[in-house]
Amino acid sequence: MEKELYLAAGCFWGAEHFLKQIEGVTFTEVGFANGTTPNPTYQQVYTDTTGYAETVHLRYDPLRVSLHFLLEMYFKAIDPTSLNQQGEDRGTRYRTGIYYTHPDDLPLIQYVMSVEAGKYGLPLQVEVLPLANFYRAEDYHQDYLVNNPDGYCHLPVELFAYARNNRDTATLQKCDTYSLLLRQAKTLAEGEADLIALMANMSSLLHESLHFWWTGFYRVVGEELLLGPFQGPVACMHIAYGRGVCGTAWKEGRTLVVPDVEAFPGHIACSAASRSEIVVPVRRQEKIVAVLDIDSKEYSTFDDCDRFYLEQLVTLLCSAQ
Ligand code: SME
Repeated sequence: MEKELYLAAGCFWGAEHFLKQIEGVTFTEVGFANGTTPNPTYQQVYTDTTGYAETVHLRYDPLRVSLHFLLEMYFKAIDPTSLNQQGEDRGTRYRTGIYYTHPDDLPLIQYVMSVEAGKYGLPLQVEVLPLANFYRAEDYHQDYLVNNPDGYCHLPVELFAYARNNRDTATLQKCDTYSLLLRQAKTLAEGEADLIALMANMSSLLHESLHFWWTGFYRVVGEELLLGPFQGPVACMHIAYGRGVCGTAWKEGRTLVVPDVEAFPGHIACSAASRSEIVVPVRRQEKIVAVLDIDSKEYSTFDDCDRFYLEQLVTLLCSAQ
């Protein structure tokens, strides 16, 4: 399960060389994003009239590097307050931009933007937009600094060492923990069909291994969600369909990852200490019968690693019936 992202960070030669050295990045190519002319050439983009930004398309393994980590690294390689200029390179083609291909990535991108904006006294000039189009640049631009080690780059060489030497250890460790937990959960679930018993032990397993602030289940009972087995402080007992993160995940039938609960319209604050949250629907015979809800006291705790393993975990609740 690879994910992808498009980052404009000024001259794409250096940006690619930086991003490709981050552990967990599995593929990079450079090209032109979010412009107007079909099939642009470098010469056309260079005129600065085509609307394109020099952009790196990257793929990554979310079990080795999180989107959050990648974005933090990206911000180390740009001046986010500079409009249409990075280093000495000037023009709209050198603007900075985060172009996403999946709307689920947007809340985290917005969260990271707000954190970065807090570090500067100036508005950020980084575009955040869905990817509209992308054309791969000519072959001689690909891996330019690998093929031309003395070639031009607006980034300092220390930054490349920084990319090589920093790993997203938090994600690597978390995924290891989940992987072990999943094996334990499989053993626990074997031959057990009672949903409440399974939910109770899954909450315990998660709580004991990952120490989240609140970990538990809400069951679909009639027209609402009713509190089920959980670990953590006292919580709201009833949640209406479509209300809060839990009711929305039920209504939309999909996992919701919320990096900042205050930014989620209609979030239900059972506890004022909760900062971020993930909610995963539990299905039995295609029907949503419950949601798994996990809360954290930190912002932006949950990512694709949590999503990946928690979605597998809840399928264990449905397998033995
Ligand atoms: N915050 C949740 C409510 C449940 S508590 O977090 C345990 C929501 O908005 O649905």
